Amino acid sequence: MKKIKVGVFGCGGRMGKEILNLLEKHETLVAFLGVDRQGRPSGFQKTVRDLKAPEVKEVDVWIDFSSIAAFDEILDFVSVERKPLVSGTTGLSESQKAKLQKVAASTPILWASNMSLGVAVLNQALKLFSQLEGFDFQIEEIHHNRKKDNPSGTALTLQDTLVQAVGKALPSPIGIRGGGVFGVHKVWAFSDEEQLMFEHQALNRSVFARGALRAAEWLSSRGPGYYGMQDVLLKEKP
Ligand SMILES: NC(=O)c1ccc[n+]([C@@H]2O[C@H](COP(=O)([O-])OP(=O)(O)OC[C@H]3O[C@@H](n4cnc5c(N)ncnc54)[C@H](OP(=O)(O)O)[C@@H]3O)[C@@H](O)[C@H]2O)c1
Repeated sequence: MKKIKVGVFGCGGRMGKEILNLLEKHETLVAFLGVDRQGRPSGFQKTVRDLKAPEVKEVDVWIDFSSIAAFDEILDFVSVERKPLVSGTTGLSESQKAKLQKVAASTPILWASNMSLGVAVLNQALKLFSQLEGFDFQIEEIHHNRKKDNPSGTALTLQDTLVQAVGKALPSPIGIRGGGVFGVHKVWAFSDEEQLMFEHQALNRSVFARGALRAAEWLSSRGPGYYGMQDVLLKEKP
């Protein structure tokens, strides 16, 4: 079986470490290259400080869990190299999202605010909320106290789907920050006579890393285009 060499932006972060942990046991994907801006040892076969290092040419697929500050340089880089990129970095600006779409015309790109199967299913299930005429809606999320963006990228993705389903403007998602919570998302619907709530809880961080690796393996044999986790995880294409 051909081995696929993975490079990771943000290799020293919480998600980068989870990814390394899973890569070490992976049959096909190899923990080849960590990019760390301070060049600290990362546990990958090689660690580089910047994208001028010759080793970057050997990477087959890139995974990014870094920050919006690093994101433009990453996109510029993959658009020149034309190597597949799986990114889970959240808090992107509108111009960064537009750039992502543009780069996807010539490069395989998969971006998702959440790499878990449960959230991919929840996002599809929300389309059924179009039936709830006259209801009030509210999305709520809880995350650990080190999370930088608020509301979370997942809450914003769910909000986009819900707004499209119900065809009206909705109040902004409510973000709560505290402790070490990996991620909780709740979608509420209220009428005078009933109340409905869908909830997803991430029970660890590796659920996101596992999704990212499935996405990387899947994307490594795809052509240019803009993909999401629904393309990788859901059996029937919505
Ligand atoms: N899509 C999903 O399923 C999912 C799941 C979890 C998290 N996320 C998102 O993934 C991102 C990372 O999360 P995390 O919890 O792993 O964060 P983290 O622990 O803060 O790690 C971020 C990593 O990115 C690096 N970095 C930050 N700014 C940089 C810059 N300007 N240039 C180069 N490297 C930079 C950091 O390096 P230093 O150590 O040098 O600062 C660190 O290695 C966040 O946007 C988060 O919301 C997405």
